[in-house]
Amino acid sequence: MTRGDQHFYQQIVDNAKHAVGVPWVQLTAFDAKSGTIKQLAVSRFSVPRIRRAAGTFRRLANGRRILDVVATIDANATLRALYSDGQTIDMPLSMVAQGTVPRAASRLAEVVGLRQTLGIPLRVNGEIVGALNFHSPRPYSAQQRTIAEAFCRQVELTIENRELTRRLDENVRLLTAVQRRLISAEDSVKRELAEELHGRVQTRLLLAWRRLQRLADTMAEGTLQHQLRAILDELDSIREEDVRGLSHRLMPPILSTGVYSALSFLAALYAPEMAVSVSLEPDVVERPDIHEPILPEDLRLTLYRVAEEALANAYHHGEARNAAVRLVVRPDKVGVCVVDDGLGFHPGEVQDNLGLTLMRARVEQFSGTLTIHSQVGTGTIVRATIVPQGALREYLHRAFQERGATSRG
Ligand SMILES: Nc1ncnc2c1ncn2[C@@H]1O[C@H](COP(=O)(O)OP(=O)(O)OP(=O)(O)O)[C@@H](O)[C@H]1O
Ligand SMILES: [Mg+2]
Repeated sequence: MTRGDQHFYQQIVDNAKHAVGVPWVQLTAFDAKSGTIKQLAVSRFSVPRIRRAAGTFRRLANGRRILDVVATIDANATLRALYSDGQTIDMPLSMVAQGTVPRAASRLAEVVGLRQTLGIPLRVNGEIVGALNFHSPRPYSAQQRTIAEAFCRQVELTIENRELTRRLDENVRLLTAVQRRLISAEDSVKRELAEELHGRVQTRLLLAWRRLQRLADTMAEGTLQHQLRAILDELDSIREEDVRGLSHRLMPPILSTGVYSALSFLAALYAPEMAVSVSLEPDVVERPDIHEPILPEDLRLTLYRVAEEALANAYHHGEARNAAVRLVVRPDKVGVCVVDDGLGFHPGEVQDNLGLTLMRARVEQFSGTLTIHSQVGTGTIVRATIVPQGALREYLHRAFQERGATSRG
């Protein structure tokens, strides 16, 4: 039982005691398999006489506490009627306790004047999960019974709600974990591909190119050599632009540069089909350290990937001619906004595919928000906003102070 559970159960019994007006209330759980009853909480003792009696019990029972002795008990026939059949019981405490707790314990109850027990089963989702047991010196009035019954129905609802909230929290936790895995899988696949292209594939192309060039050098000048040199040029452009370019697109040089530089690199790839401008808010004067990253790597990658996907969507789905990427990098606010002049869409009517899902998940990893404003015919605005908290916020404040007022991410 967690501390949160303990507090929750304690509140139930303390409130029940006051609502019904009895000296003592117990909340119990029933384990049908073993036929045992476990005490979850008991209302607090306020009467000094009860405290004294508890001291007497401890002496009688070799130092054991009354609550430990009755912590888990085997159910007798009466208690089975309560927990298994769901019957409310209203009878002398001595009958309820018969054969279940040591005689010293039931004697003690009598000494402190607890004679009559009202036990009401608690049902959650149609199953009996336990009971609230009210103990009183005298028989219960009809009004007390009605209040006790009503109180128990409320407790059932509270337990049910708590269970639902717990399940919801668990689902949110699982979903977040899945999203996190999805993001890191996407990143690691891209990183692997980038490394492979940048390293092995590029090197092999380079070696083949050199061999062909040596061959061309040995050839007599003429059409054949001319053709070979043209192929060499094409091969070089494949290596330089396609392979190297692709590897950079997969894993941007964002690890060594700031987001601003990486986004400028990304924007240039769309020319001339889509004009993409990149700007920084608030604007900054050029500084020698402008290309040094200020944000932590995971945050840089998040901003980059959001802009990358938003631009891809603008180009691919929106058929946009112009797009603007605006970057905000301040200690108290980090974000990226991509505006396009494309066809637009109804965000509520399309299904989020991997693109939008991952964008959102990446931003939510930093407790940020992703909003999409779009209408058919008016273009699209995708905005990711992160308000740095805790350690990240402190880190950014320090970093900004060290570097003067501004940086480009
Ligand atoms: N800028 C945009 N302009 C027009 N439509 C868009 C834009 N951005 C998103 N959409 C619409 O939203 C849908 C979902 O986008 P999302 O990026 O999640 O998936 P996708 O691009 O279709 O596939 P992928 O998972 O490969 O990214 C798109 O299919 C498109 O209909
Ligand atoms: Mg997409």
